[in-house]
Amino acid sequence: MTADVLWWETPGAIDRAVTLLRTGKPVALPTETVYGLAVDATNPAAVQKVFGVKGRPSHDPLIVHVADAAAARRLWTTTPPFLKELADAFWPGPLTLVHESAPGTVAPAVTAQLSTVAVRVPSHPAFRAVLEALPFPLAAPSANPFGGISPTTAGHVAHGLGQRLPLILDGGPCHKGLESTVLRLTPAPTILRLGALTQETIESVVGPVAVQTSSSRPASPGQLTRHYAPRTPLILVSSLRDLPETPSGAALLLCGPSGEAMEGLDKYHIETLSLDGNLEEAASHLYQALHKLDQGDFEVIYALQPSLSGLGKAINDRLKRASKVENHNT
Ligand code: TXA
Ligand code: MG
Repeated sequence: MTADVLWWETPGAIDRAVTLLRTGKPVALPTETVYGLAVDATNPAAVQKVFGVKGRPSHDPLIVHVADAAAARRLWTTTPPFLKELADAFWPGPLTLVHESAPGTVAPAVTAQLSTVAVRVPSHPAFRAVLEALPFPLAAPSANPFGGISPTTAGHVAHGLGQRLPLILDGGPCHKGLESTVLRLTPAPTILRLGALTQETIESVVGPVAVQTSSSRPASPGQLTRHYAPRTPLILVSSLRDLPETPSGAALLLCGPSGEAMEGLDKYHIETLSLDGNLEEAASHLYQALHKLDQGDFEVIYALQPSLSGLGKAINDRLKRASKVENHNT
């Protein structure tokens, strides 16, 4: 099978996605963060297909996507603290909330035996149109083979999973380009995965938020050490002075102007994510650049650590994971 790639506004494209999803098939859909591999979250066989298509281990739970906060609320036993404030401020958008799951609302494999379920309201009009046409919520991990770089264009999805899917809806390049921020509110607000919504922005609504970076049995498997990784080795450096002077076949990834002397770097293929150092722009280009460099013929990709404020923290988190050599979990 080779996936059809259809521009989402093509007449009949949404209907086709809806029909496939109703019959338990997976469909790749655009979101504002990254492309998702969507299936009926209430259908156990359909959910199983997503794990199979991605090669994802069954202990890694999926995010459930719904049309609005009322639909999210129905998936939880109680109302999470700050739900109204967070939903008013950030939904639809790149915030995922984790809370105690209401039994029987989604297929058990979605939550990977956890007592909680992660839910978000995506903002891309294509995803919204599909959700509004369906009577069930959609489970949707990022539409990449497990452990690889998340897709931010329909072309990335086709490249990674095109042989295993019937349909990819093309919604253009993802506006945010980084996954949603995963937040748990009880017992205290804690970010389980850094993402497109910054800690500072969330704190402006709920007050101080902890960040749970890593643990041996991850509360959020997006924290697995090696994840979001290109096949080309990636080395994260904190200063341009740490770069070898005579590299062979090396690319250099910069988030913005380096602020350091650039002499001697002409042997590098340099990729700058935002020429004026805007971290939102850098985040939106990050995976695109990693996909591109990974398909280039480089022996190694060096990446300069961004400043660790705002979105820089999430960008740095992804670069760090992409740079890990060992991979215990995939
Ligand atoms: O932006 C996004 O969130 C994208 C788009 C498609 O919506 N989705 C995405 O899904 O990134 P995925 O499967 O690649 O990552 C889901 C993350 C993982 O880190 C997973 O561990 C975490 O959400 N997660 C899911 N359910 C959870 C739960 N009950 N408790 C803690 N973490 C959970
Ligand atoms: Mg993913």
